[in-house]
Amino acid sequence: MLEARQAVRKLKQYQPPLGDRSGLRLDFNENTGGCSPRVIERLRQIPPEQLACYPERAPVEHEVASFLGLQSEQVLLTNGVDEAIHLVCEAYLEPKDQALIVVPTFAMYQICAGATGARVISIPADNDFRFPTAKVMAHTTAPKTRLIAIANPNNPTGTVASAEDLLLIARSAPQAAVLVDEAYFEFYGESLLEYAGQVQNLFIARTFSKAYGMASLRVGVLAGAAEQVQSLRRACSPYNVNGVALACLPAALADREYVRRYVAEVQASRNRLEEEFRRLGIPFWPSQANFVLARIGPSHGDFVRGMKARGILVRDRSSDFGCEGCVRITAGWREHTERLLGALRVTLTEIGWEEKRPA
Ligand SMILES: Cc1ncc(COP(=O)(O)O)c(C=O)c1O
Repeated sequence: MLEARQAVRKLKQYQPPLGDRSGLRLDFNENTGGCSPRVIERLRQIPPEQLACYPERAPVEHEVASFLGLQSEQVLLTNGVDEAIHLVCEAYLEPKDQALIVVPTFAMYQICAGATGARVISIPADNDFRFPTAKVMAHTTAPKTRLIAIANPNNPTGTVASAEDLLLIARSAPQAAVLVDEAYFEFYGESLLEYAGQVQNLFIARTFSKAYGMASLRVGVLAGAAEQVQSLRRACSPYNVNGVALACLPAALADREYVRRYVAEVQASRNRLEEEFRRLGIPFWPSQANFVLARIGPSHGDFVRGMKARGILVRDRSSDFGCEGCVRITAGWREHTERLLGALRVTLTEIGWEEKRPA
């Protein structure tokens, strides 16, 4: 009987709770409203014959590169950051290699690195999910360590690593591809993009799924040194990004005001949510992303179900490393946050949070 490679057979299936997602979706860190109206306008103008054509990535890649202040050769558009992760793993990892990740973190690093047959080493975050720079450095060995994947800000914690530490790691492991995943960059504001090209083993990933509200179109960007990006192009389909996404991307880039407004909304919502957790005595981790992780405790399952019954989807993260009893809630448009807070108070009363809260 046909069998998948052993490395693939050993993978745990990543099953995000899609299914019935009716309600206010605060479970996947998406834009809670949608994308720029200019993108919708552009979408409506796509002539039917354009759908019959294979997509042409290069001209849009050129526009994205100039938007980011990079050369076109340094930029690869991908089918979301998910594909960027996949390509980096495919291009650099052999079964004898090691990949380092800091947990808890985004699941796709483990999956894509593990699928190559490489050994994935999970380094626990320091107290309060602080980035464990010293531990990462201590686990990095040449020539074995060939990938270090870091989400900055991190998902599901919303915590960040300093640019200084990330550069130190990249410079001290020239044999490793260091992937800094900046999917939540817009909500944080700090980036390593200016080092793409300067530090030859550094890759920066960005997405249009979050602040830009285009998760369904599946577009991401991978930036790095031109020679490295050239290697990744070899392993990549020329049609990896669909034509509808490519047609809409310039409109999304042009509407800077939309992203600016949304980021301001998210930051205000994040503050509201954190204030409310503080007031209620619910432990949480201050976040630099568009979500907040909070420790509801043993009744986390009842909380998630209670919120769902009130039409609000939030994400149970209690099975992630170090996240026992934790729930992650997306911060989006302020009107959505007000709805969320109403349901949150009623649900906490229903599950008896007051009686169960730690003294
Ligand atoms: C850290 C991180 N990277 C990447 C992604 C996926 O991005 P994309 O939609 O561009 O594949 C997510 C999605 O939640 C994420 O949290």
